[in-house]
Amino acid sequence: MRKRFIAGNWKMFNGPTATSEFMVNFVPKLISSKDIAENIKSKKMEVAIFAPFVSLSAAVKASGSSSLIIGAQNMHWEKSGAFTGEISAPMLKELGCTHVLIGHSERRHIFHETSEELHKKLNAALEEGLIPVFCVGELLEDRESGSTFDVIRKQLLAGLKGMDGNDVANNIIVAYEPVWAIGTGKTASSEDAQEVCAFIRKLLGDTFGEGIAVKTLILYGGSVKPENTEAILSMADIDGVLVGGASLKPDSFLGIAKAAVQ
Ligand code: 13P
Repeated sequence: MRKRFIAGNWKMFNGPTATSEFMVNFVPKLISSKDIAENIKSKKMEVAIFAPFVSLSAAVKASGSSSLIIGAQNMHWEKSGAFTGEISAPMLKELGCTHVLIGHSERRHIFHETSEELHKKLNAALEEGLIPVFCVGELLEDRESGSTFDVIRKQLLAGLKGMDGNDVANNIIVAYEPVWAIGTGKTASSEDAQEVCAFIRKLLGDTFGEGIAVKTLILYGGSVKPENTEAILSMADIDGVLVGGASLKPDSFLGIAKAAVQ
């Protein structure tokens, strides 16, 4: 059985003070929620927060000895250098991050990050021992023109080009986030999300072998809330959720983790 991965992407919300406030409320509830704590302990579930760079230190500190995973939302592919405004994988490691989002649709579409850049970022994260959550997803126009699978195939294969299958299975998480369902309140139906996640798993199987595909974690993201989490996670190829808006409030994010208990 694959574990469940429940992740909050805070985007450009929650500075250090708000982060500490969130954690003071959230962490004790996470630890004392018996079913969640047992799931985490028995490695059936992981819970993660992807915080803004400036809040990572506060998040790591406040997460303390709880098993809450703290990750960043982006990184540069070089270890250091003249790249004003950028943050490298070793810097994230030094702060205590273990995970990093790569290729979120807002990075692809607002900041025009290319597949080549994302491929370099994935390799750099792996080299540093950070687990990348590699995001793929189609625009509304792609879906309407029937090219969803083509877009997903191109994004996925460009990112994972030349990678070792064992890295894909053990050290990379894939997240499917249809761009039209992000922050819009429009959730892809569980069946639509499953269809694309199954396609991703099949593609991983064709590329790296069946044994790799069955082990790889695939998440869904886009207007996930406590109320729709259970239905989404009941789908065969969806192993977790990547949550934006509903991860900003401790009780709502906790509700999502509760709904993910298996
Ligand atoms: P929302 O949950 O706010 O739709 O955001 C999804 C997302 O982009 C998570 O990475």
